[in-house]
Amino acid sequence: MPLPSRHPLAPESHASPLLVAAPMAGLTHSAFRRLLAEFGGCDLVYTEMLAGTRLLVEAPDSPYIRRHAGDGRVVYQLLLRDERRVEQIIDKLRACRPDGLDINCACPAAGVRFIGGGADLFEDAARLDAVLNAVRRAWQGPLSVKIRLGRAPETHWRERLLDRLQRIRDAGVDSLTVNPRFAVDRLTRPARHDLLPWICAEAGMPVLANGDITGPETLAAHPAHFADCAGVMLGRMAVVRPWVFAAWRQGEGYAAPDAGAVWRRLITLLQEDFPPERVVLRLKHFTGWYSRNFVYGHLLAGKVRHLRDAETLIRITEEFLASAPATVRTPPLYDL
Ligand SMILES: Cc1cc2nc3c(=O)[nH]c(=O)nc-3n(C[C@H](O)[C@H](O)[C@H](O)COP(=O)(O)O)c2cc1C
Repeated sequence: MPLPSRHPLAPESHASPLLVAAPMAGLTHSAFRRLLAEFGGCDLVYTEMLAGTRLLVEAPDSPYIRRHAGDGRVVYQLLLRDERRVEQIIDKLRACRPDGLDINCACPAAGVRFIGGGADLFEDAARLDAVLNAVRRAWQGPLSVKIRLGRAPETHWRERLLDRLQRIRDAGVDSLTVNPRFAVDRLTRPARHDLLPWICAEAGMPVLANGDITGPETLAAHPAHFADCAGVMLGRMAVVRPWVFAAWRQGEGYAAPDAGAVWRRLITLLQEDFPPERVVLRLKHFTGWYSRNFVYGHLLAGKVRHLRDAETLIRITEEFLASAPATVRTPPLYDL
């Protein structure tokens, strides 16, 4: 069934391929979304995962859920463990006018799985059905689910994945994002892009490919792997190079912006939203990833990792940037 044109994944509403920024905890807040939007090229951006029960006590103007006019099109990602209070949780978000809701069924982090969310929800078929059906009842707008291949490459993992795809379809979900690796792989093993054509054929709904996509070169290396996908979702590379979508759209001649100016712009945007003690945490997190643009960026990352005050963080990073640090051609995305 074709998607209505108001759906963010509908082909009429974007250039091809659809370029999407992934949900990333502590990173894809409104300040970062505005930075992305200032560069342009990104069709859709996901919020960091928002714990459903936490949302219920969040102030309506909380920086965690707030949406600014300059954010671009935003899908709000929910971390849910069961169907309780789903209606109230979704009501809380209505004021933000989400362009879509997404249910996190992919996160392998121990803390998230412990509370029954992310990859753990994906494992539990009955809870998955209950959550998806409750969300679908409460939310008539675009609804997506983000998944991995399953918990681990055990016997029958393919059958298990097909079963979950059927359940997701039956619940009336509109689209899917797939990071084609298992939960136990975390982000260490490479994403298995070769599985995407099979998943697209079985999903029965538009699929966004995610995992280890760094730019048009990833698609150009194996066009057949991505041919049936509705679009691509970039996570770590979008943080390291917030201009990656603009560069993708504009092609070869794109001139990368001044690295220091981008970093300083994020500080300004963070300060618009967060009190100083929260700015420092987010800036530190961003700086850790951003440092990967530089040959000796690991030295900067090491120096700022344990800092607690913004003044020192800014001074150390400014000193590093003032040394005209050499940049890398391909930033490392693995854990440093
Ligand atoms: C720091 C960090 C935070 C993340 N937070 C989330 C999250 O909140 N929700 C989610 O579904 N995935 C989250 N992810 C996973 C990403 O959305 C994405 O699936 C993963 O990074 C693979 O894509 P990439 O290779 O383009 O980075 C996170 C990943 C990282 C590195």
